[in-house]
Amino acid sequence: MKRTIVLLGPPGSGKGTQGEKLGQELGYVRLSTGDMLREAVRNGTPLGLKAKEYMDSGALVPNDLIINLMKEKIASLRAGTGVIFDGFPRTVEQADALGEQIDVDLALNLDVNDSELVNRLTKRRTCPECNAVYHLDYNPPKKSGICDKCGSELYQRDDDKEETVMNRLKVYRENTMPLIEYYEKKGKLQTIMGVGSIDEIFEKVKKAVL
Ligand code: AP5
Repeated sequence: MKRTIVLLGPPGSGKGTQGEKLGQELGYVRLSTGDMLREAVRNGTPLGLKAKEYMDSGALVPNDLIINLMKEKIASLRAGTGVIFDGFPRTVEQADALGEQIDVDLALNLDVNDSELVNRLTKRRTCPECNAVYHLDYNPPKKSGICDKCGSELYQRDDDKEETVMNRLKVYRENTMPLIEYYEKKGKLQTIMGVGSIDEIFEKVKKAVL
């Protein structure tokens, strides 16, 4: 079984949704740089203050900030813990830094077309407390506007407005897409079509990991 997994894929491809399910199923730790950065912004930490402007425009936060953050997180993992990286690495420099710290067993690439991505992101709603994600049509909460898991009020991420979404897709193509080839060359890549129901895709994800 693969124990160190990188989830690749454009914004909205389902990395968070599938990573969360996989983490629960296998008891793996999920490390999401997006969730960590949003928490830092909410808490007004020095990292959050630096990251906010980049995130709001859909740009990437500078590599040195992200690499330092993840080095600390990786160092704090218990030996032998299964880990799922969600949203990291996002550049070749980040991938090299990760490779210096830990051996990646699998890079799982979720492939979804742009029009589906825009629909998913602009209708996503997120829980500020537990980071659960919903979709107004595909995966709505039981009670409108309220998180099923913790009862908090859901919100729309600032970077899920259509204009910012288009920039995030551009940034993904320029900076993160090269990682598909990067992990392919290392013989670590598997690509899954990320369109279909969340449960259907999860079956494919599990097959790739087990
Ligand atoms: P981050 O939070 O990582 O955003 P992202 O990569 O753009 O990914 P998303 O969270 O938007 O999408 P996802 O693939 O997790 O999809 P989800 O499961 O939510 O990063 C945000 C920002 O932080 C970046 O722009 C950057 O500024 C910064 N950042 C983060 N990491 C960084 C790094 N390493 N380096 C530099 N900067 C960094 O699903 C999306 C929606 O679709 C949901 O509504 C969901 O319910 C729905 N959905 C999921 N699966 C399906 C399905 N099969 N069918 C229908 N709907 C579905």
